[in-house]
Amino acid sequence: MESAPPIRVCFVCLGNICRSPTAEVVLLAELERRGLRERFGVDSAGTAAYHLGKLADARTRRHAERRGYAITHRARQFGAEDFARFDYVLAMDRENLRNLEALRPSTFSGVLRLFRSYDPTVREDQDMPDPYYGGDEGFERVLDYSERAAAGFLDRLRSEGRIP
Ligand code: 4NP
Repeated sequence: MESAPPIRVCFVCLGNICRSPTAEVVLLAELERRGLRERFGVDSAGTAAYHLGKLADARTRRHAERRGYAITHRARQFGAEDFARFDYVLAMDRENLRNLEALRPSTFSGVLRLFRSYDPTVREDQDMPDPYYGGDEGFERVLDYSERAAAGFLDRLRSEGRIP
């Protein structure tokens, strides 16, 4: 039997060095746990170009590492042409979402929405708070929220019959 095409997901924040690379590794780990890794392509990008080509923020990598997530992504900027490459473009906050909506071509037939909207324990319109200018707790919060939203996202796709 032919296998279904992969479901392509891109997480998008502002700098692509804190929130979206975290969400990327958390979803990948959840896919591994569920035996679904080969059904997905997962990436991340930023709406801004401040940190192009850089590894994720050292604090982001350190907090992720402590939970067993290795982040090796290098920052890149999300462009209008990226919409053709993804089925799900998941924004970290409402500002990222507005910027993506302005870039979105009319031909995009995928899903563009806030990542945390898949967390069944929070209201629909919740941001992933930006940890960049804060302390350790902000980076832990991004991990906690990403783990809940990633599980919720896969639960949703399963309930829609897109994945087992
Ligand atoms: P991110 O965090 O959008 O989660 O990667 C930030 C990274 C860098 C900056 C702001 C937020 N910055 O202003 O350089």
